[in-house]
Amino acid sequence: MENNREKWSSNLVFILAAIGSAIGMGNLWGFPYKMGVNGGLPFLLIYLAMVVLCGVICMGVEMAIGRKTGKSPILAIGEVAKKFKFVGWFGTLSAFIIMGFYSVLIGYSLRYAIGFAAQLLLNLDGFNGAASGAEFFVAFTQEVPAVIFYTFLTFALCAVFVAKGTEGLEKFNKVGIPGLFLILVGIIVYNLTLPGAGQGYTFMFTTKGLEMAGAKFNFFNAVRTAGGQMLFSLSLGMGAMITYGSYLSKEESIAKNAWIIPAFDTLAAIFAGIAIFPAVFATGNDPAAGPGLLYMTMHDVFTSMGAVGNLIGLLFYVLVIFAGISSAISLMEVVSASIIDGRVAKGKKTERKTVVMLVALAMFIISVPICADQLGIPGEGGAFWGIYSYLADGSKDLLDFYDMLTEGFMMPLGALLMCVLVGWKAGFPWMKDEVLADGKKWKMEKFFQICVKFVTPVLMAFVLVSLFLSYLGI
Ligand code: PHE
Repeated sequence: MENNREKWSSNLVFILAAIGSAIGMGNLWGFPYKMGVNGGLPFLLIYLAMVVLCGVICMGVEMAIGRKTGKSPILAIGEVAKKFKFVGWFGTLSAFIIMGFYSVLIGYSLRYAIGFAAQLLLNLDGFNGAASGAEFFVAFTQEVPAVIFYTFLTFALCAVFVAKGTEGLEKFNKVGIPGLFLILVGIIVYNLTLPGAGQGYTFMFTTKGLEMAGAKFNFFNAVRTAGGQMLFSLSLGMGAMITYGSYLSKEESIAKNAWIIPAFDTLAAIFAGIAIFPAVFATGNDPAAGPGLLYMTMHDVFTSMGAVGNLIGLLFYVLVIFAGISSAISLMEVVSASIIDGRVAKGKKTERKTVVMLVALAMFIISVPICADQLGIPGEGGAFWGIYSYLADGSKDLLDFYDMLTEGFMMPLGALLMCVLVGWKAGFPWMKDEVLADGKKWKMEKFFQICVKFVTPVLMAFVLVSLFLSYLGI
């Protein structure tokens, strides 16, 4: 069905937007710490296998669904097969839950950027005289009104861009993505000058990492973590790429884009690792610090660098904010586009601005319990620990729980069902027809076909089973 949906102005712009959605806190916050606690190299290898065997495939599947139908997830999936429509709803719900904690993480980063900026530019103490990164972080996360304020700021920033539609998304990403790579490379080069940084590379690229992190290798855990992390990092299994694909013109190649985006995202994750771990070792910090790595540990790292640390710290958190916002806007877009499409189907006006404001507000409300939960620090967990502890295996707090619920369960299930939808229900020729549109070639067609029907769904099912096994402590 043809429609006059707005379109990206070029393929480069689409790639930038998709990469912008993909690269985010998942790469900078999630990947390095998960690699840290799952032991370096073995985790990296499992992760890479997951990207090739599942990431590339799901990326192609989502882009094809989006472009072929020209609709946002719920309507798009419903159009392919009515019975699968719930997968679109499920994805939209995931977007809400992810944004609930994602915005809080960006909010934290805003606070750090402001702290370092105050130290660098105004010579003020940006971190309330805290003696260590941990001391500041714990104190800050307990200041619920401040956390809510920074989270709110995040929503306001995102809403401005989403309200402008593809034009707003394009504008942000054109500056944000190249800027992000530039800062990342700058920090990597700076790291080379740090004595003791070599251990960071050993940690990442050899099997010694496990020992150094004081961890044991657990295969199920590594597979589950890598699989969930891969989906989260590539924004898959919940419809973000269906939405972005729906704005893609037929002249562009899905076959190629399905490789380019995962390639850049994986590069960014590895870059983030080599921007972070050498500095962690050079300053005598713990690589297995977990989710706090990006805040507590990196804060210590920048403080120990002396005056130049303020500049590097500021750049680092600006990078985190750029990466975070370009992803957050795609989360907001998934929900906004669904509502807008629903309105259009009913013959109503789009009212994008109003829709985006209401979506931002609703998402903000979901994030407030996370802000109030105080990240479960210290000790026993935050305000909501009691309610969630029995549900959340290994989760120390509500943020962890939202994270686990989405990337550990909802996204693998979404990805699995989308592969079944395209590989079995609609059938592979359905997808082939879209990929070959406009006389395109598809060199890896056979690989895709085998993966989408067998390999990817089986691996996604394995990730889900691993999740339950890890619940049972296996
Ligand atoms: N891919 C983003 C990241 O790595 C997170 C995200 C997930 C964004 C799902 C959109 C949809 O940070």
